[in-house]
Amino acid sequence: MNTASPPAVVAEGLAFSYASGGGLTRADLTLGAGETAAVEGPSGSGKSTLLALLGLILSPDAGALRIAGTETGALSPAERDHLRRRSIGIVLQDLGLLPFLNAWENVAAAFGPRLARHRGAARELLGDLGMADLVDSPVTELSGGQRQRIAVARAAVKQPVLILADEPTSGLDPRTANAVLDALRSCAERGSAVLLVTHDAAVAEACDRRHVLDEGVLSAAPQANVFEEDRG
Ligand SMILES: Nc1ncnc2c1ncn2[C@@H]1O[C@H](COP(=O)(O)OP(=O)(O)OP(=O)(O)O)[C@@H](O)[C@H]1O
Ligand SMILES: [Mg+2]
Repeated sequence: MNTASPPAVVAEGLAFSYASGGGLTRADLTLGAGETAAVEGPSGSGKSTLLALLGLILSPDAGALRIAGTETGALSPAERDHLRRRSIGIVLQDLGLLPFLNAWENVAAAFGPRLARHRGAARELLGDLGMADLVDSPVTELSGGQRQRIAVARAAVKQPVLILADEPTSGLDPRTANAVLDALRSCAERGSAVLLVTHDAAVAEACDRRHVLDEGVLSAAPQANVFEEDRG
């Protein structure tokens, strides 16, 4: 039928409200294989909510969401879980590492319970992220930035159709932030679509596209040079 692969994600009029009233008012977004996109916006504007919707963690109140060509609206909970496991890697804002596993085991856990089978891939990717000496460390003994890199490796190791990352470089020194960004970009070069939330203009600048989320509404970032005012 269709030989070209469908976009990794197509969201149309996506909306979600928490009982408290906050959430996401409207998001329209298409992201193709190999593309990187940034979402910027103030605290509370709905960035993490958008990622949870795109990651099939939350179900939208309105709108349509296709992941890798699959219309998600009609899926059962089990089918949503299956699609998420098969197609999506997520770096959550609070990382969600498993404290009883070491660094490489946390990465290999992306594949399921047979950790040893994926030992090589997990250790190699951690090495690419500057963590070669720490692959066997318990995650409870690692720094915030080191744990962040493990979470990125776990999201990326299966080379999923879609990688969602919530502030994956926050709190990292510039060199480590660059290593994380390079890892995400090389995932895109291998065909993943990468959407990341960031407060770092340099990180957003390095993405193919920039979006802004303001009071729950997602739009393309203005093209104007945001550094203009610095030149005075
Ligand atoms: N579990 C929840 N229950 C109720 N309200 C929530 C919940 N999570 C988020 N909200 C509200 O929804 C809105 C969007 O929150 P969200 O976490 O998506 O923002 P954000 O843009 O990721 O912010 P930050 O930059 O601080 O991470 C906020 O007003 C927040 O208070
Ligand atoms: Mg957030």
